[in-house]
This record gives sequence, structure tokens and C-alpha cells, in this order.
Amino acid sequence: MDIILLGPPGAGKGTQASRLEDEHGMVQLSTGDMLRAAVKAGTEVGLKAKALMDAGELVPDEVVSGIIGDKLDDLGAGASVIFDGYPRTAAQAVALDEILANRDRALDHVVELEVDEDALVERIVGRFTCGNCGEGYHDTFKQPAKADVCDACGASQFKRRPDDNEETVRTRMKEYRAKTEPILPIYEARGIVKKVDGMGSMDDVSNAIESALSLD
Ligand code: AP5
Repeated sequence: MDIILLGPPGAGKGTQASRLEDEHGMVQLSTGDMLRAAVKAGTEVGLKAKALMDAGELVPDEVVSGIIGDKLDDLGAGASVIFDGYPRTAAQAVALDEILANRDRALDHVVELEVDEDALVERIVGRFTCGNCGEGYHDTFKQPAKADVCDACGASQFKRRPDDNEETVRTRMKEYRAKTEPILPIYEARGIVKKVDGMGSMDDVSNAIESALSLD
């Protein structure tokens, strides 16, 4: 099963994709994570992406579609994939259809996380992750059980994303409304969109996604 998780910055795409990985053996393909890894490694893609990401603007379509195609080839045919943060423009939606068709794959569902944008700034500005294993936390909604110690790996170094500040979040929201929201009708016309309330607790949202996808 191949699905897209769609929603504005902070909607919970990464949180829910990671739960689908853990609980259902699916594979999360996050273009944001891949680009951050490229920036960290100082690759050509990373050098192109860094300033755009720091400003909250989108990286060129051909760059992200290229890395998605490469990742799918690495994974092979058997994996069930969650596209997290991709596609984000009409051109990327067209590219994804082609990428999937060339590999005898097809989209099964698009899960749209419906959220109240005013709450998202708080979600994003309070976000931090373990510097060692990447486990996600939040100042208010998900603190480590023991202060300053990662629940997952025991490390005690945490980090925050450079684009998780209020000004950049506003630009990311604008980009979402202008370029990403308009691709929804493409999938609605195919009858594959499942709308899920993204404003409940993380567990409630997970349960709603599982039931929308008929996962046990
Ligand atoms: P990307 O990394 O994709 O960022 P984003 O879309 O802005 O999404 P986020 O990661 O901010 O939010 P999320 O929905 O995953 O929320 P999360 O689960 O973390 O992209 C970053 C940049 O890369 C872009 O700006 C662009 O420059 C570039 N880029 C990436 N893909 C691209 C593409 N395809 N084309 C062009 N450029 C691209 O949750 C947020 C916080 O809320 C967390 O702290 C979490 O703990 C908390 N939380 C989650 N769910 C809940 C809940 N139900 N209740 C309370 N708190 C919650």
C-alpha cells in the first residue's frame, strides 16, 4: 500500500508516519528529512536546498522528485511507502504519478490531516528531537519521561530545526496554501482522499488514520 500524508507544516505528518512505520511496517519517505540529511552531509543537493529551507521556501521540484525516485529504487517492490511532505506542488504530483507508474506502483490513499492553522505555530515552535536517534518531542505535548534523557535511546542531547521559528513557519504556511493545497482536487477526483481530524491527541489521530486505511 502506498499513501501520501498531506497537511500543512506541524499537522503531524512526521509523527504519524513514524507511528505507521513502527506499528505497521510501512516505510516513511520524508523529503524534509532527506533534504536535512543532504544539508548535514554537505552534498550538492544539500548546498542547493539549505538557504531555501532556512527561508521556509520550497526546494526545486526536480531536486525532490529525483531523490524520491532514487529512494524507491533502493527500497524495492515489496515495501509499503508513506510519502511525507511530498508531493507539494502540481508538478511534483505529476512527477510522482510517473515515478510510481515506471515502477509498477500506484497510490492507494491520500490522508489529509485537517488542522487548525493557529494551533500549528505552537506545535512547531515547541518541537525538538533527540540529537542521537531523532525521536520527536515537544515542550508542551510530549516531554521525555525523564528530563533531558531520550526515552528511545537514553541520549541527552536534543536539537531544534533552524526553520522552526515563527517567521519561517508563516512563510511555510503560505507556501502550503499557495502550492500544496491546490493539488488535493487531483486526488479527490480519483476518490482516494481520506480526511482525518488532526487536532485530537496523537493517539486519537493514529486511531483515525488506522481506521481510514482499514489497518488492524
Ligand atoms: P518538512 O520537513 O516536510 O516540514 P513541514 O512540511 O513544514 O512539516 P513539519 O515537519 O514541520 O511538520 P509535520 O506535519 O511533520 O509535523 P510533526 O509530526 O513534526 O519540510 C521542511 C522544508 O524542506 C520545507 O519548508 C522545504 O523547504 C523543504 N521541502 C521538503 N519537502 C519538499 C518538497 N516536496 N518540495 C519542495 N521542498 C520541500 O509535528 C509537529 C510538532 O507537533 C511535533 O513537536 C509533534 O510532537 C507535535 N504533534 C504532532 N501531532 C500532535 C498532536 N496530535 N497533538 C499535539 N502535538 C502534536
